[in-house]
Amino acid sequence: MLVTGGAGYIGSHAAKALSRAGHRVVVYDNLVAGHRGAVKYGEFVQGDILDPSMLRSTMQKHGVDAVMHFAAFLDVGESVREPVKYYRNNVIGIVNVLDAMAALKIGTLVFSSTCATYGEPTETPITESHPQRPINSYGESKLVAERAFPHYERAYGIHAIALRYFNAAGADPEGELGEDHSPEIHVIPRALDAATGGEGLKVFGDDYPTPDGTCLRDYIHVTDLADAHVRAVDLIARTGKSGAYNLGTGTPQSVKDVIAAVERVTGRKVPWTLPPRRPGDPAVLYASADKARAEHGWSPAYPSLDDIVRTAWTWHQAHPHGYHG
Ligand SMILES: NC(=O)c1ccc[n+]([C@@H]2O[C@H](COP(=O)([O-])OP(=O)(O)OC[C@H]3O[C@@H](n4cnc5c(N)ncnc54)[C@H](O)[C@@H]3O)[C@@H](O)[C@H]2O)c1
Repeated sequence: MLVTGGAGYIGSHAAKALSRAGHRVVVYDNLVAGHRGAVKYGEFVQGDILDPSMLRSTMQKHGVDAVMHFAAFLDVGESVREPVKYYRNNVIGIVNVLDAMAALKIGTLVFSSTCATYGEPTETPITESHPQRPINSYGESKLVAERAFPHYERAYGIHAIALRYFNAAGADPEGELGEDHSPEIHVIPRALDAATGGEGLKVFGDDYPTPDGTCLRDYIHVTDLADAHVRAVDLIARTGKSGAYNLGTGTPQSVKDVIAAVERVTGRKVPWTLPPRRPGDPAVLYASADKARAEHGWSPAYPSLDDIVRTAWTWHQAHPHGYHG
């Protein structure tokens, strides 16, 4: 199993789940955002998905027969300012992966997609049949890939499952792996940092049409995401089925809910300020994950926000500077 981006947050957890399920894992990552210390399962190859010949020779050398593609950039705000980065890394990157797979007759792909492919929701919870109209180049770059899959399946026999994650959160419950982005763009690690004396948390707007005025999101535990990847590979092996699946808990949580959970779990106050809304932040985003439940037999083992925050807090306490100490 080749895991591109396996030195990153979600990929490292998936590599662990795959190893535990008996797969032989090769992590392929250029470490632009990942960490060598996050590769605790499988063999590590330092390489770039923008290097087609290295990608292909790595797949060949290791006898890869399935690929999980996590390697990408994922900062929505940056994607608005610098779309070229997102088209280059995310679009050309997946094309290189598909090319190598086609050349080597590798027929199984699990792809990290995102709720950002839906854009501004017209109804919630969001199901897989909700229109996909991304409002930034990040979401667009993932949708381009999803749209390519049926063509590659018809021509080259590549079966692809796109998993559309909502907000990945939490850390390995066994404490081996966690979230270490730089800069950190996600609210739970930022709230934990604020609770421990770091920069205060910024709550972007409290005048949304939601019960407490802050945005509602769907936080899904990273170990539950990892589990869904293992199930997706099994599903392709058993049925040859391609498709797209939402992964979320289906429970919307506000930014103030997150602050309250962090305060409950840590026993500390989270200092926060209230800058205005950011352009492009929908008020409400949460998933219907009924399709993944029905077809993968998947259901989140850590659906409670407090449990998600607790695992992130355990990781944060043990690794206040992430993988670097
Ligand atoms: N974190 C979330 O909440 C979230 C939500 C929806 C979708 N996703 C998707 O999940 C995937 C993983 O996200 P993450 O949070 O683990 O991010 P991450 O930045 O922690 O991991 C991405 C990994 O890919 C590697 N990478 C990037 N470009 C590369 C390249 N050109 N060649 C080789 N390696 C490269 C990075 O070094 C990093 O290790 C991404 O595709 C992202 O779009 C994440």
